[in-house]
Amino acid sequence: MSFTVGTDAYARHVGRYGAALSSAHADAAGLRPGDRPLDVGCGPGVLLLELARRLGGDCVAGIDPSQPFVEAARTAVPMADVRIAPAEHLPFDTDAFDVVLSQLVVNFMTDADAGVAEMARVARRTVTSCVWDYAGEMTMLRAFWDAALELDPNAPDEGHTMRHCNPQELSTLWKKAGLRDVETQPIVVEASYEDFDDYWSPFPAGIAPSGAYCASLPPTQQAALRDACFRRLGSPRGPFSLSARAWFVRGIR
Ligand SMILES: C[S@@+](CC[C@H](N)C(=O)[O-])C[C@H]1O[C@@H](n2cnc3c(N)ncnc32)[C@H](O)[C@@H]1O
Repeated sequence: MSFTVGTDAYARHVGRYGAALSSAHADAAGLRPGDRPLDVGCGPGVLLLELARRLGGDCVAGIDPSQPFVEAARTAVPMADVRIAPAEHLPFDTDAFDVVLSQLVVNFMTDADAGVAEMARVARRTVTSCVWDYAGEMTMLRAFWDAALELDPNAPDEGHTMRHCNPQELSTLWKKAGLRDVETQPIVVEASYEDFDDYWSPFPAGIAPSGAYCASLPPTQQAALRDACFRRLGSPRGPFSLSARAWFVRGIR
């Protein structure tokens, strides 16, 4: 999986939207004072940090299968219990947490049914998630994949390859895990770029599926993809901002 490349490229890629998304996700999760939350697929720890800010670092826990991300999350929240594990096999007792959250993760799980069932098992009250709207209004990735499709109709567009990234699929996944009162809603956030290079530079570094695809191309095709992205973003000469929509789901145990 292309999340072992490193935390710096991740921070400049989708990680750029992470703080705003984490804040909106934590608001929508309905946290209560004294809650003990688990962040499943915590990555470098942006949601974990938001949870720690609201509830205290020693109350929060996270898991992720990527060693560099787990190390970064431990650095971000030193008092948190952060472990290397996949969602499909959570190393915690049944009902160990009040709220179990996962941000931008269910679409990467090897077995999302098993992963969400595990999230429900360790949750006493609420299970939440949010996933980018890859096929629609996640502008940064949509521009990249539309440019890629322009040059290669077989490009592995995440708008098609990703599962569980619309309200219907998320709702079905949550209900299959036995969760009730399942609700979905959009979360829209924004991020700024200093210039087009600031947008482009994480892709050739190979981070995430979009970066892995970009890094796999020979230099001439990479350059053509860069030009096509530049045009799709309106040929920006200076700073610009992009909005990104995620779909949020919440269910009660
Ligand atoms: C797009 S990143 C999101 C990271 C973080 N939640 C955030 O909001 O920045 C996807 C994360 O899912 C993790 N992941 C992939 N497969 C997983 C699995 N089966 N169980 C748990 N996490 C997984 C990756 O290691 C990566 O950290």
